Amino acid sequence: MSVEARVPLLKIEGLRKKYKKREVLKGINLNLFPEETIIIMGPSGCGKSTLIRCINRLTEPDGGRIFFEGEEVTGLAAPQLAAVRRKIGFVFQQFNLVRRLNVLENVIFALRLAGVPAEEAEEKGIKALTRVGLRARALNHPEELSGGEQQRVGIARALVLEPRLMLWDEPTAALDPILVGEVLEIMEELVKSKDTAMLVVTHEVGFAYRAADRILLMNEGEIVEEGTPDKVLTTPRSEVGEKYKKLLKT
Ligand SMILES: Nc1ncnc2c1ncn2[C@@H]1O[C@H](COP(=O)(O)OP(=O)(O)OP(=O)(O)O)[C@@H](O)[C@H]1O
Ligand SMILES: [Mg+2]
Repeated sequence: MSVEARVPLLKIEGLRKKYKKREVLKGINLNLFPEETIIIMGPSGCGKSTLIRCINRLTEPDGGRIFFEGEEVTGLAAPQLAAVRRKIGFVFQQFNLVRRLNVLENVIFALRLAGVPAEEAEEKGIKALTRVGLRARALNHPEELSGGEQQRVGIARALVLEPRLMLWDEPTAALDPILVGEVLEIMEELVKSKDTAMLVVTHEVGFAYRAADRILLMNEGEIVEEGTPDKVLTTPRSEVGEKYKKLLKT
């Protein structure tokens, strides 16, 4: 079946965002299909975080429409929006763990908030921690973990929701270079498992080359190039693409 014939899990139409008078998203169109991994790259300030945060309306768009599983997310009232957010995992650059909670409590916080009984939530939490290789650290507190381990907790916290879609905003950008690899390794395993669709913002060009089904390049609020990793990173048409091609070689 061609990609076009399938129904997208996420559909973005003409998405716009302004801060004061400056347009930071200038009409973004994007379809993401189930099981697909799209990687977004582009220079600092081009609107990547704004785009990804608009999807579950952590940032409110000014125009355009977003559909998730066929339901329009733009315009949903708070309770319905909360239900959509529970189906979308978000992994942040700054891990945003709660310091007073232990690792397991951090992972299951959203489940407990949604009314999942403690025993069931803990079972799911342990399963998610096992997937990121941190089962043994369940009772530790965040400050007892390395940055890479803290980000793996951040990943488990997203996984525990059994999301249909995972959004990643530069998940390795705050890490010591030595710790980047362990997080990328987990991410690659998740991509291969095809349990969820993924939209990943990252500058890790080697990872993008290996993991992406499609790469989108952004510049100044627009998508300037789109295609398979091979196409975008070895025969780019855009200036931004040329820059990433050079990075891939180094
Ligand atoms: N809350 C805000 N108020 C005003 N301007 C903002 C706000 N958030 C972002 N911007 C501006 O919007 C533009 C896009 O920001 P965004 O964070 O989406 O960029 P980015 O591509 O994620 O950059 P980076 O790679 O540095 O994370 C930037 O010029 C930024 O300064
Ligand atoms: Mg950003």
